[in-house]
This record gives sequence, C-alpha cells and structure tokens, in this order.
Amino acid sequence: MKILVINGPNLNMLGLRDKNNYGNLTLKEINKKLRELAKNKAKLKFYQSNCEGKLVSFIQKHLNYDALIINAGAYTHTSLAIHDALELFKGKIMEVHLSNIKEREEFRHFSYISLLATNSYIGLKEESYYEALRDLLKD
Ligand code: DQA
Repeated sequence: MKILVINGPNLNMLGLRDKNNYGNLTLKEINKKLRELAKNKAKLKFYQSNCEGKLVSFIQKHLNYDALIINAGAYTHTSLAIHDALELFKGKIMEVHLSNIKEREEFRHFSYISLLATNSYIGLKEESYYEALRDLLKD
C-alpha cells in the first residue's frame, strides 16, 4: 500500500506552536513515528507546504496512491481548491487535526476536507496521525 502524508501551512513549525493545541512534537518526530508504524506494511511519502497551489499540484501528481493522510492546517477551513483536488483522488482520505477544531473558535468548525474524508481524527494531538495510519493499515 502506498500512502501520502500531506501537511499544510505552519505545520512545519510544530514544536514552536501553541503546545496546548498542537502538542510538543515536531513534524519530523511525528513523521519518524509514522515511518516506524508503517514499516514492512506500507510505503509512505511525506509532503509539507505553506502554499495552497503547491498542495493542489502535489495531490494532482499522486492520484495513483492508495490512500492519503492530510492535515491541511488553516486551508482546512478555506480551500475549495484543495477540496476539488481531493475530489480527484480515488483512495481513502484520512483527515487529521492535532487540536479539536470543533471546540475552538467558530471559524475553525467548518472543514472542506471533512466533506470528502473517509474518516477524521481530531483533537488527539500527534495521536491523530498515528490513529489515521493505523486505520489505513488495518485494511
Ligand atoms: C490544525 C487546526 C487548524 O485550524 C489550524 O489552522 C492549524 C492546525 C490542527 O492540526 O489542529 O494550522 O489543522
């Protein structure tokens, strides 16, 4: 199984961001753990960008992957373009958020990604990513 792990804006700054919402780990540390969980089970490809168009292009170029895990950061709440790129993706889409977007400011409650997601893992800090991957690996 080939799986994309896609992170949007400001997720490259984990470790420096508000720890109450986002936990203590850096994205590098989270990705390391994901690689360990996937070992001998799935091939992971990681991508992070702060640019909406680059995220769209990355998704378009990898439509042959079996599944993807995405934390679109703030674009979750605004990006119809990422939504439309994900609509082209035929595999499972796992939405991930470190914080509980449903219990934060109202402008974070709506998610374009949720409209397409097979499952959403929200508010478990880094465990959100690990649970999303475990969910895919159990297939
Ligand atoms: C986030 C939640 C978003 O609202 C925020 O803009 C982020 C991170 C999360 O993982 O909790 O950058 O997606």
